[in-house]
Amino acid sequence: MNASVPSHLISPHGDELINLMVGSDRATEIKSHSKEWPSWDLTARQVCDVELLLSGGFSPLKGFLNRKEYEGVCQSMKLASGLIWPMPITLDVTEDFAKPLKPGSSKVALRDGEGVMLAVLHVEDVWQPDRNAEAQQVFGSTSKVHPGVDYLLNKSNPWYVGGTLEGMQPPSHYDFKNLRLTPAELRTEFARLGWRRVVAFQTRNPIHRAHQELTLRAAKQVEANLLLHPSVGMTKPGDVDYFTRVRCYQLLLSKYPQGTVKLALLPLAMRMGGPREAIWHALIRKNHGVTHFIVGRDHAGPGNDADGKPFYGPYQAQELFKKHETEIGVTMVPFNMMVYLADEDRYVPDGDVPKGARVLNISGTELRQRLNEGREIPGWFTYPEVVHELRKSFPPRHRQGLTVFFTGLSGSGKSTIANVLMTKFLEAGGRPVTILDGDLVRKHLSSELGFSKEHRDINIRRIGYVASEITKNGGIAVCAPIAPYDSIRKQVRQMIEPYGGFILVHIATSVETCEQRDRKGLYAKARAGIIKEFTGISDPYEVPTDADVVIDTAETTAEEAAQQILLHLEQKGFIGVNSEGD
Ligand code: PPS
Repeated sequence: MNASVPSHLISPHGDELINLMVGSDRATEIKSHSKEWPSWDLTARQVCDVELLLSGGFSPLKGFLNRKEYEGVCQSMKLASGLIWPMPITLDVTEDFAKPLKPGSSKVALRDGEGVMLAVLHVEDVWQPDRNAEAQQVFGSTSKVHPGVDYLLNKSNPWYVGGTLEGMQPPSHYDFKNLRLTPAELRTEFARLGWRRVVAFQTRNPIHRAHQELTLRAAKQVEANLLLHPSVGMTKPGDVDYFTRVRCYQLLLSKYPQGTVKLALLPLAMRMGGPREAIWHALIRKNHGVTHFIVGRDHAGPGNDADGKPFYGPYQAQELFKKHETEIGVTMVPFNMMVYLADEDRYVPDGDVPKGARVLNISGTELRQRLNEGREIPGWFTYPEVVHELRKSFPPRHRQGLTVFFTGLSGSGKSTIANVLMTKFLEAGGRPVTILDGDLVRKHLSSELGFSKEHRDINIRRIGYVASEITKNGGIAVCAPIAPYDSIRKQVRQMIEPYGGFILVHIATSVETCEQRDRKGLYAKARAGIIKEFTGISDPYEVPTDADVVIDTAETTAEEAAQQILLHLEQKGFIGVNSEGD
């Protein structure tokens, strides 16, 4: 037991709170040797794992699992010591990196994105895991629709390196510093406050009234203080960013009885592993000094499979937890979904709804829609302070950033329409507008590039990156390159859509019309072979099948085309009554 941790608190998993940080003398020694060792640049998920390994959040683990422990964890949720541990914590690396490593003697410097050495890994095992088998054992599925499986099969590296760690320094955080408490710090805080029974609530979502009611009930039910312990490492793709969430959590604290609740952030990279993940979450909380853990409906659920069926049953996590509750050593506080009884103005678990009662609920998707459309979000669903905070991060569509991305042949009329459109946006006001025209971009951003497929793709990726930044910051980007290739256009859409609108406009003017016009004389040169790889003549143009607006300028003036686009934007909500920015 760590000397600084008072003994009346719950024991960590395995009875010892692991602290892998070395003292300053050893750190100097490690640093001087590290020049001889290979360096591994940790991925975002690995940085999260290293942080919780070093601080003891993953006690009793002292490093990344070796092969034997990995197999035990995957097959039967057991470490070699016999302790329960449901989630494989592994260091995945590339084959090139793995091959020269020597089990038993190699050391690896583990570095963060800035090259800072966070820890040294003493290599015990190097192996190529069967990742499909791992997916099946841990997640009960090999479907790539499951985010945990998708990460494992598509994003993680194919080789694993196991071994113990010596910690040099924890990953740096500059945000919400007062809320980032290590297991030892949180234990000290509980001891200081005299909190012995603590029930923790894990979440990756903003907390609304339903969950606030649930946590309050849970705390009262087991007569414990409440720890709101949201995950702020990696959560499910598409989740509300943690900065917004934490601001919302902070606002909620005043809604609990004075002095009964504490908020702390957990730098956990979630796997969305449902039942196994619930057990893992509880063990991590136990290490932080927590005695009780809330497991609700569909805990750490990954959503639905390709057939629209949930990967796990709604209460499967509770069932697995119950089975192992003694080994886990944390008491589960199971909860059904809380629903709102409209006529009684109160929340109850869905199992306790009186017959015929009018029940209201707003799903996450519905909430997003209401935010996008600037519609009302009722007080019974969430507190007005929280709505206000959410609206700042998720303004209605007509105040979000936006990219209008033109594609079409040279001379099809893209630039002319783009310029008319830009003028219309400027006339309406409210959002800054940037035009990224093909010729302008080639002059300022891509002057070294030619017209091979590879170079065109680089060019479009650059435009996409700039447009995504503009969109993220609430501006309008009007892009007008030829962008002849479908796959890169789709990539750009994916880059931008998480931040705001993306409207693909195909200027479908035929090559015959463009050639007839030949404003710049380029078609004549292309026919004469003076210009090579000319789109539509000697280079391909892949007609988009996913265009939001299609315009043929043989039949439409530039002004009419701009109007057509504006009407589409209005229909999608990107232009609204308040676009002046009130
Ligand atoms: S791409 O494919 O999107 O990267 O092309 P883009 O950056 O829009 O550049 C197109 C402009 O470059 C001139 N140009 C050519 N276009 C097509 N093929 C070849 N080989 C070529 N060589 C020069 C042409 O003026 C294009 O401008 P627009 O405004 O489209 O007419």
